[in-house]
Amino acid sequence: MKGNAEFSNDGLQGAAVDSVPMVRADHVSKRFSRSVDGRQALCDVSLQIKRGESVAIIGGSGSGKSTLVRILLGLETADSGVVEFRGKPVRDKRSPGWRALRRESGLVLQNPFTSLDPRWSVARSVAEPLRVIGIRGHTAVAAAVESALRQVGLEAGRFMTRYPIDLSGGQAQRAAIARAIVAGPALLVADEPMSAIDVAARLQILEAFTALRSARPDMALIMVSHDLGVVRRIAERIIVLHEGCIVESGSTAAILEHPQHAYTQRLIEAASL
Ligand SMILES: Nc1ncnc2c1ncn2[C@@H]1O[C@H](COP(=O)(O)OP(=O)(O)OP(=O)(O)O)[C@@H](O)[C@H]1O
Ligand SMILES: [Mg+2]
Repeated sequence: MKGNAEFSNDGLQGAAVDSVPMVRADHVSKRFSRSVDGRQALCDVSLQIKRGESVAIIGGSGSGKSTLVRILLGLETADSGVVEFRGKPVRDKRSPGWRALRRESGLVLQNPFTSLDPRWSVARSVAEPLRVIGIRGHTAVAAAVESALRQVGLEAGRFMTRYPIDLSGGQAQRAAIARAIVAGPALLVADEPMSAIDVAARLQILEAFTALRSARPDMALIMVSHDLGVVRRIAERIIVLHEGCIVESGSTAAILEHPQHAYTQRLIEAASL
């Protein structure tokens, strides 16, 4: 897939590829017309994410985390500002970066059962993104599905023929992660992937993400999480959102050890209660 002409960044190679951030948001603002309080969901947000980087977005409920990742993925449109994927605008379906982003990104949601069709076997759900990008050969699809399931710690022989109703929350979330990575995305986005999973199974999800980080060093990861223990294990960098604005960002160690903003300090204090 990566050899496909659409993935070649107009011929840019190596260091040149890295000079263009994988994801860039520049002065992005958003206000929902149906917003109950009339507040801006995002105000003047700018950020860049490089190939292979792992970035956590943290912030309280309603701070704009999901809105931000949805705009970065072209699933929601900003009122103003620019979002680019590999230097190409991602505004709507007609934008040059939009299709590339669809093919090269995976999304993991809080509730895994929203990503898995209840009528489909795990094998079919995990294979679906391959079908969408035109990979249909039975052997290639089966090998990719098995490999993706193995990477998230699910034994293919046991799980391929199961249906979502036969899975625990933790198993379903790992199947949903397998689905998100099966096509070898350059960007994986996870929005609170552990918060709907029972505590005992969270460790397996965390281990799946940790294993993916080392197996796929070129894949960028954006994880929304309020679990600072998870953030510490997964992310190199943290972006703190408060009422739609980035109040602070920096290396994980710097933000967690020496938070500068009072809001970040409160978030960290609340997490240690
Ligand atoms: N589709 C929508 N219509 C109207 N308002 C919305 C919509 N989506 C989000 N909002 C509002 O935008 C703000 C940011 O919401 P968002 O879902 O991005 O927050 P969040 O940080 O992901 O919160 P949570 O931690 O609860 O998931 C909130 O005030 C929310 O009510
Ligand atoms: Mg959210």
